Amino acid sequence: MTLYSNLANSVKAQIQRGRFTAGDKLPSVRQLAKEHKVSIATVQEAYRVLETEMYAQAKPKSGYFVPHNMPYENTPKMTKPPQRPMDVSQWEDVFDMLLNTFSKESHTDIKCQFQHAMPDMHAKTLTPLTKRLQELTKNRAFDGMVYGDVKGDVGLRKQLSRLVAASGCQLHHDEFIVTSGCQEALSVCLRAVAEAGDIIAVESPGFYGAMQAIKGANLKALEIPTHSSTGLSLDALRLAVDQWPIKAILVTPTVNNPQGFVMPDENKQALYALAREYDIAIIEDDIYGDIAYSYPRPRTIKSFDEDGRVLLCSSFSKTLAPGFRVGWIAPGSFRNKVLHGKYVSSSMCPTLPQLAIASFIEQGGYDRHIRAMRQEYQSARDAFRSDIKRHFPTDTCVSFPEGGYVLWVELPSQYDCVKLAEIARQHGIFIAPGQLFSATGKYRNCLRFNFIDSTSAQRSNAIEVLGSLIKTQSSTRSNDTESSQSMDR
Ligand SMILES: Cc1ncc(COP(=O)(O)O)c(C=O)c1O
Repeated sequence: MTLYSNLANSVKAQIQRGRFTAGDKLPSVRQLAKEHKVSIATVQEAYRVLETEMYAQAKPKSGYFVPHNMPYENTPKMTKPPQRPMDVSQWEDVFDMLLNTFSKESHTDIKCQFQHAMPDMHAKTLTPLTKRLQELTKNRAFDGMVYGDVKGDVGLRKQLSRLVAASGCQLHHDEFIVTSGCQEALSVCLRAVAEAGDIIAVESPGFYGAMQAIKGANLKALEIPTHSSTGLSLDALRLAVDQWPIKAILVTPTVNNPQGFVMPDENKQALYALAREYDIAIIEDDIYGDIAYSYPRPRTIKSFDEDGRVLLCSSFSKTLAPGFRVGWIAPGSFRNKVLHGKYVSSSMCPTLPQLAIASFIEQGGYDRHIRAMRQEYQSARDAFRSDIKRHFPTDTCVSFPEGGYVLWVELPSQYDCVKLAEIARQHGIFIAPGQLFSATGKYRNCLRFNFIDSTSAQRSNAIEVLGSLIKTQSSTRSNDTESSQSMDR
């Protein structure tokens, strides 16, 4: 992506987030050039793109403004979850969804798999990684058979130390512990910071695997209102920490799952300050952070950490492929507990995938792959959002992801997406109903989509089919209401 289109996207994202609204003056050309360290010509080109897309309007001698006829953006507003700690339910529903992990090759009736958040694993930029794995298996198989370091392969940890620098963290390779994916990382961290019965604050909606890890450690979840563009509400969090003895805050602030937002830096810093004031740990899930569309990638909360209270977790499941099961934790001051927790959880992690990934990063393959994926995912987002706007009811809200490949759709409250998912399945379309993303089964009128499965034509067709199924649901409901009203009469 060129410098000017990158800059145009960044200004556009700020408008879509609501930082600038209709009629607001946009930053001057000079200011943007200085802030982004680019030339005046680059900023002028970025503004030209924004003008063509109707996100900016030039006023002679006054600069650029957000026009009043800006493209319509109906994004979900702040959520309103129950304001008390709850036991996590939903395991049966999550398990049912996990059972649907299939390959299209063996299920020809599947048209679109919008349900699972998996990256593009057919990308050519992954070939050096799979080749490396083959070589290692052939030549160094013995390395993969012996017990390795419980902390993980040192070569990989050195590469991790290099990778996290992009998010503003200076961490030595001994500060990392390799895990079996990010799911194990979250689970080990929760057990390190809390004991049975403790309360964990989470975003709502939030990743169902994190909710199940809370359940698995006999903890309670306190869902905090979350906005689809700025993330967890800091005001609501402050009220919650005043009222409840919260042990940890578990968040995915950079390219959130399911909504795709990137929490602004100032909010990340304020969240850290609040946690410090109340002496609360932060478990930061950064699994999608590297595939934020902006470059350089956004900072982590960990980058503001001065006293080791942030446990940073991630994996290569969303950037490379989930089957490698290579994740990691930078546990800060919880290192000893986390290391013990990792050992009792699964001893060490398989070595060969770690070696292959380490060499892929070292040879520059990871950066190349990420660059290509950012672009692919961002164009898929724009096409997918347009398809939804075209085929779903007009009052549907759609999140505006700033990275990755999942988005959140909120239908008007009368729709039931659990039923919709069942019917869609019969048409070969698999979707994740919103209630999976709440500790207590809220968000039945919402859906999370992976928007990069299949070809764009197949996705468009599937969205059209879903749109007509939704319309059928609404007409069935109004017929039911009419007939029950006539029976009442
Ligand atoms: C936000 C988030 N965290 C953690 C995980 C678990 O990742 P892994 O497959 O590496 O265990 C996922 C997977 O969907 C996720 O979306």
